[in-house]
Amino acid sequence: MPESSTPFQNPLSEGSRSSNPIDPCILVIFGVTGDLAARKLMPALYNLAKEGQLPMHFSCVGFARREKTDEGFRQEMRTAVEKHSRSQPLDESVWKNFESKLFYHHSEFDNDEGYAALEKSLASLDEKFKTLGNRIYYLATQPSFFTGIIEKLSKYKLIYPYSDDQKPWSRVIIEKPFGHDYQSALALQDHISKFLSEKQIYRIDHYLGKETAQNILTFRFSNLIFEAILNHRYVDHVQITASEDIGIGTRGRFWEETGLLRDMIQSHLIQLMSLIAMEPPVNSKADSIRSEKVKVLEAIREIPLDKIDEHVIRGQYEKGFVRGEEVKGYHEEDLVDPNSNRETFVAMQLFVDNWRWANVPFYLRSGKRLPKKCTEIAIVFHRVPDILHAHKNANYDQNVLSIRIQPNEGISLNMNCKVPGISTPVQPVKMDFKYDTYFGLTPPEAYERLICDAVSGDPTLFAREDEVLTSWKLVSPILEYWEKQSSNTPPNYSAGSWGPKEADELLLKSNRSWRLI
Ligand code: BG6
Repeated sequence: MPESSTPFQNPLSEGSRSSNPIDPCILVIFGVTGDLAARKLMPALYNLAKEGQLPMHFSCVGFARREKTDEGFRQEMRTAVEKHSRSQPLDESVWKNFESKLFYHHSEFDNDEGYAALEKSLASLDEKFKTLGNRIYYLATQPSFFTGIIEKLSKYKLIYPYSDDQKPWSRVIIEKPFGHDYQSALALQDHISKFLSEKQIYRIDHYLGKETAQNILTFRFSNLIFEAILNHRYVDHVQITASEDIGIGTRGRFWEETGLLRDMIQSHLIQLMSLIAMEPPVNSKADSIRSEKVKVLEAIREIPLDKIDEHVIRGQYEKGFVRGEEVKGYHEEDLVDPNSNRETFVAMQLFVDNWRWANVPFYLRSGKRLPKKCTEIAIVFHRVPDILHAHKNANYDQNVLSIRIQPNEGISLNMNCKVPGISTPVQPVKMDFKYDTYFGLTPPEAYERLICDAVSGDPTLFAREDEVLTSWKLVSPILEYWEKQSSNTPPNYSAGSWGPKEADELLLKSNRSWRLI
């Protein structure tokens, strides 16, 4: 499959998709009875079907361990789509057509017979739907099943050796987390590369599929006035916040193994940081863009072990009030060890040691049970010299360019203006671009874009092997350092607050503060 190439003005936009022909294919979703399939994957597929973005010759097979019929499966998926689809109400004729292509395959993930039977049923679906043997396997299971599934797919020749002009083709989409730390990610990579070429592997980080995240490169590299000032001469610091008001919900077991640094920082926030910090790529090919992102990750200054506590703050929520409702502390959540040290909040300071960003701190912050759901990148510019306004005690602020990833998707610029009138007070004002008022539509869900790109063979919005490994290299020493701490760290922020006080102190020590969101 040739690498995608798109008009540079809009490197990560619709254009890249439409430039690739969409081949017929069968999508097999492993772990289809899980939460992800119900909340994200099926609604995404339904919306793609509704907008005519799926291949004309297409079928989808759900593979999972629970026994059920095709009919029962379709009914469950219908309920999930009715509940979670962004477009409502369900369009009966679209659904009817879509469900006629939907099938269920019952098997354990390690059962040979299950794969032998899968091979047969995919072959008969090929006949029926003219899908020409093309396959996408979506691994939406627990990560511990990834290697076993890939091995079996290879054993039953359900994945094919890669070649550039490959027909039929096979691709594997792997959900995050890709590994648990640097060593395990490396081991997973070594293992799967025995069966798959890098060009067949699509590692999902769904933040890259968000419309607003895709717009970062378009915004940066098609607006000279901003790009020219995004460097250490003008930028004081950058804040990237991904806050959530929800707790860990029913994911106690997962969370005890994972924690926030792995779940949000290693993947989503580091990806956003690399998009905001990267240099312009030499062209718009997937690998050129991804190589520039890797350079940023490689330039991130290592945090010495004896300085981790100064640079990385972790927190865990205790009971409190979120949106006026009383909620449990982390220790009281189901399937959580009541003495657990597992973090639900992280704030950290990073530096990118290259010419553009020399000594500009990047502050990353993310947590559960914070006051609201919001993801934002704020670029805070240096202060103007205190010469003209100082004596008037002026109320002026540093300029801030903020990119709202979600909700209220948009971009705003804070600046200072003179208040009309005879006296000359200064007041901060805001220029605000909002997607919904300007374009009059809700951006598609990240998973719609990502599934569509995988179907059309465009890997731009998927993380490459070296991106994932380099970001693990960055966070693994922190994880190891925390694991070695013998003392119990008590919960240190109330649910509904903005995290522990140490997160504020992280910025206060250099006279900075988190933005009010
Ligand atoms: C997932 C994390 O990757 O992203 C979850 O595992 C988190 O813990 C979710 O809640 C947030 O995604 P979004 O798209 O709702 O911001």
